Amino acid sequence: MSNKEHFGSKIGAVAALAGSAIGLGNIWKFPYLTGENGGAAFILIYIACICFIGIPIMLAEFSIGRRGGKDVYGTFKTLAPKTKWCAFSIITVCTSAIILSYYGTIAGWTMHYMCISFTDAFQNATPASVEQLFNDFTSNPYHPLIWQMLFMVVTAAVILGGVKNGIERSSKVMMPILFIILIILCFRSLTINEHSIEGLIFLFKPNLDVVSAKTFLAAMGQAFFSLSVGMGVIMTYGAYVKKHENIHQMSYQVVISDTAVAILAGVAILPATFAFGMAPNAGPGLVFLTLPQVFAQMPLGQFWSFIFFLLLVLAALTSSISLLEVTVAYLINELKMKRATATILTTVVITIIGVFTTLAFGPLKHITLFGMNLFDIMDYTASNILLPLGGMLICYFAGWVLGKESLRDEITNGNKLKITLFGFYFFIMRYVAPVVILLLMLNGMGVFNN
Ligand code: TRP
Repeated sequence: MSNKEHFGSKIGAVAALAGSAIGLGNIWKFPYLTGENGGAAFILIYIACICFIGIPIMLAEFSIGRRGGKDVYGTFKTLAPKTKWCAFSIITVCTSAIILSYYGTIAGWTMHYMCISFTDAFQNATPASVEQLFNDFTSNPYHPLIWQMLFMVVTAAVILGGVKNGIERSSKVMMPILFIILIILCFRSLTINEHSIEGLIFLFKPNLDVVSAKTFLAAMGQAFFSLSVGMGVIMTYGAYVKKHENIHQMSYQVVISDTAVAILAGVAILPATFAFGMAPNAGPGLVFLTLPQVFAQMPLGQFWSFIFFLLLVLAALTSSISLLEVTVAYLINELKMKRATATILTTVVITIIGVFTTLAFGPLKHITLFGMNLFDIMDYTASNILLPLGGMLICYFAGWVLGKESLRDEITNGNKLKITLFGFYFFIMRYVAPVVILLLMLNGMGVFNN
């Protein structure tokens, strides 16, 4: 038996899917990765990854999800009975728990920053004071935990509402607000002073000197992370999409809005950074260390700061709910739990894991592996290993197990729609994506270096 719950409307489904895709990955991670990896060259490689790998994988995951019509475990059990494919759900549950745990850390910080926007600490920010503020806050053993927990409670509250009244309804409200705020911030950032334009040049004029194998892995990992593909979120949401909807068109709407928001976030952040003569390569701290100084120098800076961090909170929330829903759907369908029990249980477990990533900036700072703290380890493992691995398996499944005819049937709604590029997508899913992903992963991990 398929899911009982569905999205009520097409626009609601797209809002929810785009909400999952558009998140901290677009607004916090993409601008700093671009800053660290040399600007436009990274963006070009990123867009190539989106077009040639991202779109086919999104389509593959979406089709598998809607065809199976259940949570990840149930979907594989239905589509490939008597095989071990349902074990894939173990990867998805682990990956979503890892991502959501550190997602909660950053989202908690953004909530805190939103609330302190109007304080003196922000108004009189200097480079030293901002750094002090950031270090004091993130290394405190209690404060960031409280914010992380608060964020997880809000996430759980939406999931408790269910697919239509929780996920769909909240996304339909939050996504338009997010777009409006982002556009306003772009205008603000571009009109600060004559140096703003340098930020745009940095974003759009490629410097190929800085490109290396790591750039490709970083771009691919980011493409997976940003599109929310590779771990069952799109599959789980796909199962809530009705049979007559055009999933090919919906995939494009999601991919285009996700990419547009990432680039707009770059436009909202980097010109402002250049306008005040600050470096674009501050890493994960770009948003928390560089921007407060930018806001401090701007007229009405406290207001802009509040709006900016509100944007981040909204973006984080529409994504975190999708991460939580993967495991909740599994518990509801397979273990017959009530939504409330499943939500509370999952939230508690993930919040506990998240305590470690949050404390990785304070009391647990000394735990490191290959120079990465617990937080970096989680992010690296999820984005650069588990998501590509998941994406590879999804493509393999679509290309070799589900097969061409079933896939065509699902994407074209039983031959009712004409999808010209179907042959191309199928070729990529079957041959190109699994190989390319594997090579990029091995290369980025330094396997071919000797
Ligand atoms: N795509 C989100 C972002 O850009 C994060 C996210 C939500 C995600 N669900 C996911 C990442 C599933 C990977 C897999 O911030």
